Amino acid sequence: MHYDVAAIRACYPALADGYAYLDGAAGTQVPQAVIDAMSAAQAAGLSNGGGVFPASGRADDIAADCRTAIAALTGGEPDGVVLGPNMTTLTYRMAGALAKTWRPGDEVVVSNLDHDANVRPWVQAAGQAGAVVRWAQVDPVTGELPAGQYRDLIGDRTRLVAVTAASNVIGTRPDVQAITAMARAAGALSYVDGVHATPHLPTDVHALGADFYATSAYKWSGPHIGTVVADPALLDGLRPDKLMPSSDEVPGRFELGTAAYASLAGVTAAVHHLAGLAAGPAGSLRDQVVTSMTEVHQYEQELFDVLLAGLDAMPHVTTYGKAASRTATAYFTVAGRTPQQVAEHLAGRRVNVWHGHNYAWELTGALGIRDAGSAVRAGLVHYNDAEDVRRLLAGVAELAAG
Ligand SMILES: Cc1ncc(COP(=O)(O)O)c(C=O)c1O
Repeated sequence: MHYDVAAIRACYPALADGYAYLDGAAGTQVPQAVIDAMSAAQAAGLSNGGGVFPASGRADDIAADCRTAIAALTGGEPDGVVLGPNMTTLTYRMAGALAKTWRPGDEVVVSNLDHDANVRPWVQAAGQAGAVVRWAQVDPVTGELPAGQYRDLIGDRTRLVAVTAASNVIGTRPDVQAITAMARAAGALSYVDGVHATPHLPTDVHALGADFYATSAYKWSGPHIGTVVADPALLDGLRPDKLMPSSDEVPGRFELGTAAYASLAGVTAAVHHLAGLAAGPAGSLRDQVVTSMTEVHQYEQELFDVLLAGLDAMPHVTTYGKAASRTATAYFTVAGRTPQQVAEHLAGRRVNVWHGHNYAWELTGALGIRDAGSAVRAGLVHYNDAEDVRRLLAGVAELAAG
């Protein structure tokens, strides 16, 4: 199947500005279809949901369509799709609800590979509940999070295991299936951070064994909306803090205040955009998105091989992480330059990259680079092309000493 990256890039008005957008791991650009869907939602007349008149009905339909689209993207059920402003907010909300069921001496397992949004909410909730936090450790040399260590970390008192599906800086994809299986066997729940993984590969929450799966639409061409996908029956057993008159149904029970309806329309459009990236046989939205994301994964990995080989060939560059299974996300430092200087130099060449810890707080500590300004992140998503990679490598090559 031919992956037509030029046609894909043409869907994105922002990509015409001459910059190489290698900052997708912090948030992607949006295609015209998403912009149009958001603006059409507003233009049609869009009121608050729950009313008896058409503009209110449209809001309810938009929210329902959004849950259906996210279920198609993740393999979950629409009634198990909790919507909110971003993953961090939703994770604090879920941690608050889950921690009400914890007792002193219960245990929670987190990892130092994770973005802090899948660490701190659990550490703080555990502290309030008197629960013990146990840490899975990344191998700082390989960047792997060995699954075997969870055999010792998970026990009778474990209530929750929080783990990422992919590191947002070094791309490591741990063996989530093995980890969630150990959690389940011990009677614990798993909370999988899919924010970085979802844009790069097909997602199947059931195959992952994730009781909760979090992802943020702004990482996969949508607007700034987060979601947590869970079994509706599991959600039904939890009692989050909420207002007295607000819905007690699932998933609405977890959603505070008025929804960002226009953005939800954009999320649905983003899922359809992903489903159409690699033309496949007609099928359900789920089938199309799986086919498409399988192609995206292969395309990104091939381009990433070039990017990584180019960086590794430069004696003045150090790259971090070499996990066997990883997303197309490079994290590197340049001898004699701070990460900020490198990012500034590249910005001058119209190449967008991030520098710093990128909230991989524990990981950059474990790698011993947090206090030195951490590193530079250059990540690929489905709209990046060989020219983006060439420009990155050319810009970094210019920083060779001498
Ligand atoms: C892996 C990962 N987890 C969590 C988050 C936090 O997501 P949000 O910005 O939706 O709160 C990010 C954001 O960069 C991330 O990359």
